[in-house]
Amino acid sequence: MKELSSAQVRQMYLDFFKGKGHDVMKSAPLVPHDDPTLLWINSGVATMKKYFDGTVVPKNHRITSSQKSIRTNDIENVGHTARHHTLFEMLGNFSVGDYFKKEAITWAWELLTSEEWFAMDPEKLYVTVYPKDDAARECWKEVGVEDSHIYEAEDNFWDIGEGPSGPDSEIFYDRGQEMNNVSEDDPENYPGGENERYLEIWNIVFSEFNHKPDGTYEPLPHKNIDTGMGLERVVSVFQHAKTNFETDLFMPIIDETAKMAKGDVHYGDDAEKDISFKVIADHARAVTFAIGDGALPSNEGRGYVIRRLIRRAVMHGQKLGVEGAFLYKLVPIVGKIMESAYPEVLEQSEYIQKVIRNEEDRFNETLKDGVGLLEDLISETKAKGETKLAGAGIFKLYDTYGFPLELTKEIAADQGLDVDKAGFDEEMQKQKERARSARGNAKSMGVQNGLLTDIKTPSEYVGYEKLAADGILKDIIVDNKLVDVVSEGEAQVIFDKTPFYAEMGGQVADKGIIKNEDGKVVAEVKDVQHAPNGQNMHTLRVLAEMKKDAKYRLEVNVEFHDKVKKNHTATHLLDQALRDVLGEHTHQA
Ligand code: ALA
Repeated sequence: MKELSSAQVRQMYLDFFKGKGHDVMKSAPLVPHDDPTLLWINSGVATMKKYFDGTVVPKNHRITSSQKSIRTNDIENVGHTARHHTLFEMLGNFSVGDYFKKEAITWAWELLTSEEWFAMDPEKLYVTVYPKDDAARECWKEVGVEDSHIYEAEDNFWDIGEGPSGPDSEIFYDRGQEMNNVSEDDPENYPGGENERYLEIWNIVFSEFNHKPDGTYEPLPHKNIDTGMGLERVVSVFQHAKTNFETDLFMPIIDETAKMAKGDVHYGDDAEKDISFKVIADHARAVTFAIGDGALPSNEGRGYVIRRLIRRAVMHGQKLGVEGAFLYKLVPIVGKIMESAYPEVLEQSEYIQKVIRNEEDRFNETLKDGVGLLEDLISETKAKGETKLAGAGIFKLYDTYGFPLELTKEIAADQGLDVDKAGFDEEMQKQKERARSARGNAKSMGVQNGLLTDIKTPSEYVGYEKLAADGILKDIIVDNKLVDVVSEGEAQVIFDKTPFYAEMGGQVADKGIIKNEDGKVVAEVKDVQHAPNGQNMHTLRVLAEMKKDAKYRLEVNVEFHDKVKKNHTATHLLDQALRDVLGEHTHQA
């Protein structure tokens, strides 16, 4: 097989799909914009929600990207396994109501196996299909995959609750028994089982259903394709690496860390130390990118994740005997590795280093206090004649002072004591519940609105010239249906022309009234938003009859409009002043 660098793999993937008519989309910032349901962008499709659910119609219905993503569900596992990461990249190709199963499968196979592209041996590839998905099975057979390489998997159904969902098909690469961690005849030794031999490299989701809030499924008006190929995994295949870490994405960071460690330490010499190297390499990447994208260490939400990652890395630095602040020194290495796709990291390097260094120094101070607390805890426990450090105490050490449980355990063991793990877990559970309720339960993905997507009537915004104008009423929507007449209640309407500003760029929508040709007020304008195809769509409280194709007088509330304008201008001035005084890294959020 070809030997490819991570930069080559990423570029080839994007070039391949560009050649198939896709727009290459720049990796979106890790901090989601306008999506309160996500702490971090966690997949390629997370940036496509607005297209998939029909809120916005994309210019090109075929899109490809290599999306930086952060997942934080099991930070504790990072370093201890072959493939857990906090930051990773997901290569993906997306069809928004354009091509479907046949093309997605044919192209996946072409990219993976053709000599010109990834040139993988077809004999080494296996796929899984959803049991009822005969169409996908047929497509795989048509490209030449034999029945013996197709497995059925009951859980091949991608569903994140409300919104688009559907069966998926996963692609596995057989790395050979020598890479395995289970015996040849182990029942888990098959593509999709718990083993290290058959590595899942790509997931192709056929988004065909709308998972509705009431739990039922209905066919989507448009069928979409969502795929995800983990860059780190597929690079480990091209670079014959046992884990994702022994690749050009991580090794330069690990080597630099080894230089700072105490003594002549190298990766691969000692399993315990290797865990620390992996943790540091993973976390250095994640915090570099997260801070570069505008997040900062703090005590809640995203900031808390960054704080935890920096602290965890520092603790592992201590295990390696690294002296003083060090994590910040890895930022330029991360920047260099990722330069071809993310030149902005090197450009922002100085700023990112400053933030990390600051946090490292603070934590080193905190650590001293934490050690004091731990000593108190130990003497109290002994004085009471108990043998275990109390759950609440060790959780406080973990949560407030950033002491990993294993470290507390080690120190306790030196004193002939154990820790109350169950009590710790209980505190952790409470903490998770607090975090969950803080995140809120806003909808994860809007239900695709086929009706709005299909409305293409042009509508012109004339508000820059005048705040009152005549407009012909073109579309009336009541209870998600198009109607010709409305005389009370709530309605959404589109006119051929409107002076009403739709909410955008942090400026709220206009309010106002609508009169008929006799000068009678027939509706109040409560809100204005952009419809999927860009028209200004007004939400009205209707007071008297309004008819499609009739002419109306649209009057913006001028006093309100002027106040909004001043407020918005002041925000821009403040923003610029902050930039002038504090620097270019400040941004409005
Ligand atoms: N969105 C799909 C996944 O995360 C591709 O696996």
